[in-house]
Amino acid sequence: MSEDTTKAAETSGDALENLSTENRQFPPSAEFAANAVVKLGEYEAANADRPAFWGKQARELLSWSKPFTKTLDWTNPPFATWFEDGEINAAYNALDRHVEAGNGERVAIYFEGEPGDTRTYTYAQLTDEVKKAANAFEALGLAKGDRVAVYLPMIPEAVITLLACARIGAIHSVVFGGFSADALRSRIDDAEAKLVVTADGTFRRGKPSALKPAVDEALTAPGHSVENVVVVRRNGQDVNWVQGRDKWWDDTVGAASTEHAAVGHAAEHPLFILYTSGTTGKPKGILHTTGGYLTQTAYTHKAVFDLHPETDVFWCTADVGWVTGHSYVTYAPLINGATQVIYEGTPDSPHQGRFWEIVQKYKVSILYTAPTAIRTFMKWGEDIPAKYDLSSIRVLGSVGEPINPEAWMWYRRVIGGDLAPVVDTWWQTETGAIMIAPLPGVTSAKPGSAQTPLPGIAVDVVDELGTPVPDGHGGYLVIREPWPAMLRGIWGDNDRYKDTYWSRFDDMYFAGDGAKKDEDGDVWLLGRVDDVMNVSGHRLSTTEIESALVSHPSVAEAAVVGAADETTGQAVVAFVILRGSAVEDADIVTTLRNHVGKEIGPIAKPKTILVVPELPKTRSGKITRRLLKDIAEGREAGDSSTLADNTVMNQISASLKA
Ligand code: WTA
Repeated sequence: MSEDTTKAAETSGDALENLSTENRQFPPSAEFAANAVVKLGEYEAANADRPAFWGKQARELLSWSKPFTKTLDWTNPPFATWFEDGEINAAYNALDRHVEAGNGERVAIYFEGEPGDTRTYTYAQLTDEVKKAANAFEALGLAKGDRVAVYLPMIPEAVITLLACARIGAIHSVVFGGFSADALRSRIDDAEAKLVVTADGTFRRGKPSALKPAVDEALTAPGHSVENVVVVRRNGQDVNWVQGRDKWWDDTVGAASTEHAAVGHAAEHPLFILYTSGTTGKPKGILHTTGGYLTQTAYTHKAVFDLHPETDVFWCTADVGWVTGHSYVTYAPLINGATQVIYEGTPDSPHQGRFWEIVQKYKVSILYTAPTAIRTFMKWGEDIPAKYDLSSIRVLGSVGEPINPEAWMWYRRVIGGDLAPVVDTWWQTETGAIMIAPLPGVTSAKPGSAQTPLPGIAVDVVDELGTPVPDGHGGYLVIREPWPAMLRGIWGDNDRYKDTYWSRFDDMYFAGDGAKKDEDGDVWLLGRVDDVMNVSGHRLSTTEIESALVSHPSVAEAAVVGAADETTGQAVVAFVILRGSAVEDADIVTTLRNHVGKEIGPIAKPKTILVVPELPKTRSGKITRRLLKDIAEGREAGDSSTLADNTVMNQISASLKA
């Protein structure tokens, strides 16, 4: 077994024990149910023959330049192919075909910049912009199969860049703007990216915030694969310029032609790589391909949010740096011909009502956000949303981490006017699209539960041995059968793909999450059971942050845990043993936080760093994080009898009290 799976297997975790009983239920209104896009009968039809169901969706929701004759090939598990002999162009499906169908004047994107500047793109205009970008990228020598690193803020150029790559068959690899130069470089190197698309910067809470310097720093050391850097002018900051390598977006894309024919690519042609944290230090480049991914993102967007593209205004608040910003900003809404809002900034800039002001302004009818944001809004108080007209909202979505029932109730009551169904959606970077969620016109919703695998998806909860648990019990979440948007591997590392996801249980995908089935058989997600933390819905690896800490000369040893946090779900708490004179350094905690920020990015900075004399370890030398978590969460430390030295916990407590 790999390190990934061994760790997962070892830590069944307290998370499995914490299901409270929830009796409230919210069936859809008769009116909502009658107008819903997807009805109850869908489950039965879909689950009777899953590949056939997905084949039908692929034909109905997408336009194929060459129709497929095969649906699923699972003869070489865990490597699946879907619709293998078909050909399709993702950008054509997201853009041109809507214009050809007479919907060119429909708004595709309402963009709201943080400073309040706005732009509107119709489908016709967005199609032109993507064609220009495709031409410009080709003129820079980019060809099908080449990799493009994208390091952009949440501006329309991000979507345009991704779709332009897809159009020409180049593979995008988005690196979240909150990651550091070092993190960016390692991702550029792993994928051997030829082109980087970035911006001078963005705005954060009213101030310019730079991006380009991180790209410059990432490319300082020689030996990289990057030939060109295209720079969007966004915040007007001065930038350092490397002649020959750097090009302004306006000069390249701006000057390009709006004529560009989309050719079909094989259904299994790679669409993108997206790096995500695993339980080991090295991020995994999750690989997604075209036909299956587009099918499932489009279907789930329609079914889970009850999308009526002619009338709805959809707003997914996720950044394009995460998978949600790929599937439910860049691809599904445009594939489905919907109108969507894109917002550049934070919810509190320039005031704490910004989100609700945006909902009111654009008459957002479907809002998709994260529990951490909902909990923050709860803290700010319901008088803030009360100042705005939120009556346009008819469906509310949640993603990224378990949503506590009270946050769910608040979301429905305060934002949804006690009427809008809340859909809690469980999925992962690896699954590509939503896997478990209620259907808003069908399911009687339960606060805090993602409830039901979607039509065509086979999910289960199993015990240590892989046996399904009976209703009312907890275990590990697994996926029993291949699904269209499943990852096709880890970039350049097939063995790691098999070890990480397919070796813990025979013939089943292991997601890394704990889950419970309640007495009705509904699924409740209970958090990660491995060493992956979830901070504000962002995945961070304990090992990766520990490695960053020990790379500082003052640190001898480090252990990191995710401690429960009221707002962010979990918070990073680090325990460090210092070397020599660093113990005397009054600023060491600040120094180390900044060091982690530099190594990985600001999002990984520990909230708390505790300097300790020792770390609890088993006889075989493994750090017992469970005990550190007790301390980080303010509890008495649990059973320490398996430690090599059972006085260690007392030493730690004494040092923290001192
Ligand atoms: C967690 C984000 C509970 C889970 C789309 C998963 C959730 C990880 C939910 C994937 C949810 C996501 N309820 N937990 N509705 N949605 N998670 O790859 O632990 O950034 O494994 O994908 O987030 O995070 P990722």
